[in-house]
Amino acid sequence: MMNNEQLKQEIVRLKKEKNAVILGHYYQRHEIQELSDYIGDSLALAQRAQDATAEIIVFCGVHFMAETAKILNPTRKVLLPDMEASCSLAESCPADKFAAFKEAHPDHMVISYVNCSAEIKALSDLICTSGNAEQLVRSLPAEQKIIFAPDRNLGGYINRITGRNMVLWDGVCSVHDAMQAEAVLQLKMDHPAAPVIAHPECNPALLKVADFIGSTKAMLNYIQKSESQEIIVATETGILYEMQRLCPEKRFITLRDNKSCACDDCGYMKMNTLEKLYRCLRDEQPEIVMKEEMIEKARRPIVRMLEMSRELGLIR
Ligand code: 13P
Ligand code: SF4
Repeated sequence: MMNNEQLKQEIVRLKKEKNAVILGHYYQRHEIQELSDYIGDSLALAQRAQDATAEIIVFCGVHFMAETAKILNPTRKVLLPDMEASCSLAESCPADKFAAFKEAHPDHMVISYVNCSAEIKALSDLICTSGNAEQLVRSLPAEQKIIFAPDRNLGGYINRITGRNMVLWDGVCSVHDAMQAEAVLQLKMDHPAAPVIAHPECNPALLKVADFIGSTKAMLNYIQKSESQEIIVATETGILYEMQRLCPEKRFITLRDNKSCACDDCGYMKMNTLEKLYRCLRDEQPEIVMKEEMIEKARRPIVRMLEMSRELGLIR
């Protein structure tokens, strides 16, 4: 059995030997982020995957993200260190039930948050991420009827800030939805000068007590601009690696600093380990394999998102 240092060396060696690129999400274990060629949120990593020229893309994230990479760059071999790394939000929206829901709203356009399966993407007109959802929705004509899936918290938040009345699929991220406003308020009592920043997947009660609501990327921008030396962060703990790297002098307080709440770790994201990453590169398994037809159907709404995001100046 290799120790962590040996595993890291082997991963770097195999990556070179096999012409592979490692894409890592901000929620990954710190040692995996350290080894990643690119770290990013789901939107940035989707772009990286689309542009990747390496023969192998090792996606250190969850299944829907690796699947998105395959959809955008189907000639590459896409690997996910642990095939069981799912997402509670994606699981909260089964394709058969969603197809019936869509049929019940025939004159509606379907916008799906990228945290969903390829089957749901194939049933959608447009994909969004937390980083572009507001702008994409605002860019559509006011009279356009919309179904938003699968996250009722993100969809509800967009409805509130845009004045829309999108029909929401009743799904949540079990990690963000479980974060409690009371825990945040207790932290605020101990750190009265610290602003609260929260991901829009959090429940509405928590969002109400937040000083800033934004995507992973928006939160990273916020902490760099903020003059506060202490910031309360309501999102997944993996982000602390990048926050601390960007602002080593600042203190980031998470919900687990309130003893009543240890809910801010995504078990799915943390399934990828150094050992699994090493084995995945060595064996070129587990691989994301998809039918051509599904790739084609799921790609259209993702490409539309990327095109609209470019037109709106949100991405290069
Ligand atoms: P981002 O789109 O900000 O990367 O978030 C993905 C995610 O899984 C949030 O819980
Ligand atoms: Fe899915 Fe939530 Fe984990 Fe993000 S944090 S991958 S939405 S379960």
